[in-house]
Amino acid sequence: MPDATTPDSPTDAVDPAFRRDVLDGLKARHRAIPARWLYDRRGSELFDEITRLDSYYPTRTETGIMTRHAAAIAEKTGTGGALIEFGAGSVTKTPLMIRALKPDHYVPIDISGDYLRDSAEKLKGDFPGLAVDPVEADFTGHVELPAEIEGLKRTGFFPGSTIGNFVPRSATDLLRHFRDILGDHAKLIIGLDRIKPIDRLRRAYDDAEGVTAAFNRNLLTRINRELEGNIPVELFRHEARWNEMLGRIEMHLVATRALDFTVEGEAFHFDEGDTIHTENSHKYGPRGGRTLLLAGGWTPIAEWTDEDEDFALILAEAQPPRHAP
Ligand SMILES: C[S@@+](CC[C@H](N)C(=O)[O-])C[C@H]1O[C@@H](n2cnc3c(N)ncnc32)[C@H](O)[C@@H]1O
Repeated sequence: MPDATTPDSPTDAVDPAFRRDVLDGLKARHRAIPARWLYDRRGSELFDEITRLDSYYPTRTETGIMTRHAAAIAEKTGTGGALIEFGAGSVTKTPLMIRALKPDHYVPIDISGDYLRDSAEKLKGDFPGLAVDPVEADFTGHVELPAEIEGLKRTGFFPGSTIGNFVPRSATDLLRHFRDILGDHAKLIIGLDRIKPIDRLRRAYDDAEGVTAAFNRNLLTRINRELEGNIPVELFRHEARWNEMLGRIEMHLVATRALDFTVEGEAFHFDEGDTIHTENSHKYGPRGGRTLLLAGGWTPIAEWTDEDEDFALILAEAQPPRHAP
């Protein structure tokens, strides 16, 4: 479990899981650091900036789908109960769901704690009658939901295609974990990005303004600050690659020349062109998305897309504990 704070200054406690993931990730043959560590406060701010870029179609497309179909979604989920959002970030899409689903209780969960609390405060101001209980947690691990929602009908909300950050095996584990957290009879509203022409995908993850590059490189700045690193951040460039076989965009940090650095006293060497793999964003076709949910313990009951079928919003219900074939 992460600490109660997401550290943004060297004096804050460092999450031991961050230390372990970074050191293990830099020592591995395929150097990789899990995407969740991209989100310190600065990372969350930069991600929010990305969502407003013209080239980043997912946010406006998913928001459009929610706006158009909010009433139909509410008809199937019913109103009231608890709305539990996984990876809530800046909660920009949440008001749409709150207006439609009229929950009594809203529980945003995010690993980026300070940012989450600020977002939740803002939301409380906008919905004075709503109980808002932010939970800072890594949602892949133990999540302690507030006691107040005990016995309430539960609807999970997992927008932004965050599920795409997980390789399918981990994605199904995560969906099953959400099913355990939310319990029997729960519903889940989940956003999934669709496969589309590669040039559009690449532009969305490597914008001309350089915001995604800054978001990616901020991970190195975070390592330097929190783990006494001296990584030459300016000698790494951002790259977004399409992996056709695995159906995903990959973000990498590429060494522009041979270089050496230390992190917590441990020495690392990179040759020119060596990379750190920092994020995956898997894209799904209509069947692939539904199969993923089925394998993860959720039965899709409705799906909405935009006109161009760029993005899908799926409503699913928790499978009974022992699902018949
Ligand atoms: C792709 S952003 C999506 C943000 C927002 N839900 C949206 O739709 O725009 C992923 C969000 O999930 C959070 N996150 C990523 N991994 C997480 C984890 N393992 N546990 C909790 N939150 C996580 C990040 O901090 C970030 O706010």
